Amino acid sequence: MEQLLSRNDAQEMLESIISERNSSAHPFRPEWEQEFRAHSGAVAHIAETIAFKTLYLNSEKAYILGLLHDCGKYQDEYACHKFHGLAGYYYMLEKGYPDLARASLTHTFYKKDFEPNEYPFPPDDLKICRRLLQDIKYDDYDLLLQLSDMINDMGKTCTIEYRIQSVCTRRNITPKNYAWVERILKNIKHHFDQQCGCDIYSMFDILK
Ligand SMILES: [Fe+2]
Repeated sequence: MEQLLSRNDAQEMLESIISERNSSAHPFRPEWEQEFRAHSGAVAHIAETIAFKTLYLNSEKAYILGLLHDCGKYQDEYACHKFHGLAGYYYMLEKGYPDLARASLTHTFYKKDFEPNEYPFPPDDLKICRRLLQDIKYDDYDLLLQLSDMINDMGKTCTIEYRIQSVCTRRNITPKNYAWVERILKNIKHHFDQQCGCDIYSMFDILK
C-alpha cells in the first residue's frame, strides 16, 4: 500500500483546501464551509468505523480517504464548471497521492458505465471520468467511500434514501431518476452489513 498521510497531515491538507477555496473568486459561504467540514469529518469517521469492523480493511487509510474525498471542492465546481471528483483527482495526483486521487474520482460513480446525462456535471468532465474509470477495478475502499459519503448529509448521518432526496432537492433532480443509485447503494450496504456482521445503520444509530 502506498504511504498515506498521517491524520495530522490530512487535517492540515483539509485546512489548506478550505483556505484555497476561500481565497478564490468563489469562496465558501460560512454555512457551506461548516457543512464541508462536518461532512468531511463525518465521512472519515464512518469509513474508519466500518473498516475497523470488517477486520480486513485498514481503518487508518479509510479515515484519510474519507476526510479528503471531496478535496476537489478547493474550487466552486458550479461557478468554475468543473466536476469536483475530477478536479480532486488531478489535485491529488499532482501532490503524489494516487489513492486519494482515486477516491475523489470513484466516490460518485456507482457504476462505471454511467451515461453522462445521468449526472448534473459538465459532460466533458464526465467523459474523461468514464475513460479513467475503465482502467480501475473497484475494490472495497471505493465501495466503502461511496457508502460512507451517502449515509451522511452535510454532517448529519442519515439513510441512503434521505441523502438521495437531499442531493436531488439541492441539484433540482427528480428523485425517480436516481432510483438506480438507491438500488446500487443498498447492495453496497448489504455487502458491508455482511462483512461487519451487523446492520451498518445500527452502528451509527441511523433510524430507518
Ligand atoms: Fe463528493
